[in-house]
Amino acid sequence: MAKRSEPAPQPKPGVLHRRMLDTLKRSRSAVVPPAYTFLFDQARTKVCYGGRGAGRSWSFARALVLRAQERKTRILCAREFQSSITESVHRLLADQIELLGFANEFDVQAYTILVRNGSEFLFEGLHANVSKIKSLEGIDIVWVEEGEAITEHSWQTLTPTIRKTGSEIWCTFNPHLASDPTYKRFVTAPLTNAIVRKTTFRDNPFFPKELEDERLYLQSVDDDAYRWIWEGECRTIADALILKGKFFVEPFEIDSAWSGPHHGLDFGFSKDPSACVQLYIDDVNRVLYVAREYWALGTDIDALPAQLETAIAGISQHVVFCDNSRPESISYLARHGIAGARAADKWSGSVNDGIAFLRSFQKIVLHPTCKKFLDEARNYCFKVDRLTGSPLPEPEDRFNHLIDSARYALSSLIRNLPFSGFFSRSGLLVKGQPAEVPACSHVVYGMLTTTERAGSAAAFIVFSLPPPDLPRQLIVCDWEIVEPDVALTAEWMQSACKRLREIAQQYRALDDPQRIYVEPDSFGYAAGALAADHHYANPRDPIMHIQLIDDELPATIDQRAAIVRTDVNGTAWVKLSRAAMDRQVTFRNTTTCHLTSQIFGYKPDARDAPQELVNAFVTGVFMATDRS
Ligand SMILES: Nc1ncnc2c1ncn2[C@@H]1O[C@H](COP(=O)(O)OP(=O)(O)OP(=O)(O)O)[C@@H](O)[C@H]1O
Ligand SMILES: [Mg+2]
Repeated sequence: MAKRSEPAPQPKPGVLHRRMLDTLKRSRSAVVPPAYTFLFDQARTKVCYGGRGAGRSWSFARALVLRAQERKTRILCAREFQSSITESVHRLLADQIELLGFANEFDVQAYTILVRNGSEFLFEGLHANVSKIKSLEGIDIVWVEEGEAITEHSWQTLTPTIRKTGSEIWCTFNPHLASDPTYKRFVTAPLTNAIVRKTTFRDNPFFPKELEDERLYLQSVDDDAYRWIWEGECRTIADALILKGKFFVEPFEIDSAWSGPHHGLDFGFSKDPSACVQLYIDDVNRVLYVAREYWALGTDIDALPAQLETAIAGISQHVVFCDNSRPESISYLARHGIAGARAADKWSGSVNDGIAFLRSFQKIVLHPTCKKFLDEARNYCFKVDRLTGSPLPEPEDRFNHLIDSARYALSSLIRNLPFSGFFSRSGLLVKGQPAEVPACSHVVYGMLTTTERAGSAAAFIVFSLPPPDLPRQLIVCDWEIVEPDVALTAEWMQSACKRLREIAQQYRALDDPQRIYVEPDSFGYAAGALAADHHYANPRDPIMHIQLIDDELPATIDQRAAIVRTDVNGTAWVKLSRAAMDRQVTFRNTTTCHLTSQIFGYKPDARDAPQELVNAFVTGVFMATDRS
């Protein structure tokens, strides 16, 4: 043992009572709570980890001050990063020196602390300081504070440097992840001749009231965080889990009010699976339902359509948004049974937008049959910073196949963030652009309607449907808005018929003659009567084919809108053409694209907003939709 220094001078009155100091010298363990007396035992390595406020830093500092005061000791206080001395334990040590009444023996300098007996405290950051650390000679004790941030590389540099006979490595830390190098090195697989202790606030008889309040608060609001911060448990990977707290497994019946089905497909083969999901959205309660899943390794593309249909019955009737990195596979599916297969949008940030969108749901309910989705939801996580253990804003590329499929399925809705309009703008467009009308159309038809409301206008919309062998798509080709009494003139009706005929010719419509549908209301009857009169008066110049809708129509616009919304937003097979988007009309002193302003501005129950074009639109979509 090194020679003892001069007897300690009298402490300043009031700092520490003389008798207390005597006791302290008799029993070193009196300076630290019982849980920390192991610091006075003999061991190469002394490690203490655990929750906040456990008295670790104070106890280590006190034990070191005592040791430095007792005999000549060279102490290195290290941490991973130390850009200034204020980040070190320099201040803590100075305080403890004062509190323990050793102020006269210690010389607290700006960057070191020296003791009369030749003891010395040095303060260094390990990171990017390798050569300096290696050159340090004669260290008796290194105290690594905030050990959770120490890299394996730093440990490998540091430990061989501490080579003096009897030298010790002390380490304090608050654990982050069990995979952190410090945790693995000292807790998971501790060295022999190491004392490793876990302490919490319970081990600190001086645990301050302020911290106790914080502790109780966290305990009441966030159990996971509580266990990490105060109980000193490792953060589980769950803290980085992307869908944490969002998903639930419950049986459910699909409600006709929900939007959907939305389908998404992620291609894989041997290492990654091919994965496909069917989703529904309950918009009112903001719940996402995962109804069906398909997940399989090694499926050949020619077997995929049948397997998809088996797993997700009816998928071949719907749009399926697919991973856009495999255009040849999408094209294959589209030609072999999954006619609605198309590329999902990807954009810079689409993964994180998709995650934000998934997390924006109140909850995500998984049908109990969706076991693989559950597996992914439980494991899909953010990358974790290797130094701090904090989740990074980038997901790991694992456990993400069905979740990616869900992002694809919802891509048109995601682009429309925030989730607001009743009809999705992106759903009505193709990659943000108006749709091209196919050169040959199966049917071109017009919808001429008004609303029951006083002051309503008459709205005319021309739709086109492609032939059955092309992907099912209803396109809004053109529109017009006029005063009802203008619409109910032979002249205007003839011009409407002419327009319809031109569009039919332009797209070489197969169905001839074309029809203009009207509702069986007073306006519709008047239009029908006018057409009939005109026909009798001008047998060679008829107003063609004004036809009353004889389908069972839901009574109100809001009801029709609710029914067709799924087709518009969800399956996204209704599109606006460039002509319909670009058309600006001056009506009642307002020049705009009345069609888009009405459709995108539509809100159920908004009684004051103009809705004629919305009515023609939802009625036209309703008519084109196969509800069998
Ligand atoms: N021996 C002591 N005498 C008086 N008060 C003490 C003593 N030890 C600890 N305390 C009080 O408890 C508080 C928490 O102690 P300390 O900072 O050492 O805990 P810790 O385990 O290092 O916490 P963290 O994990 O937050 O760094 C101190 O700020 C101090 O107020
Ligand atoms: Mg501490």
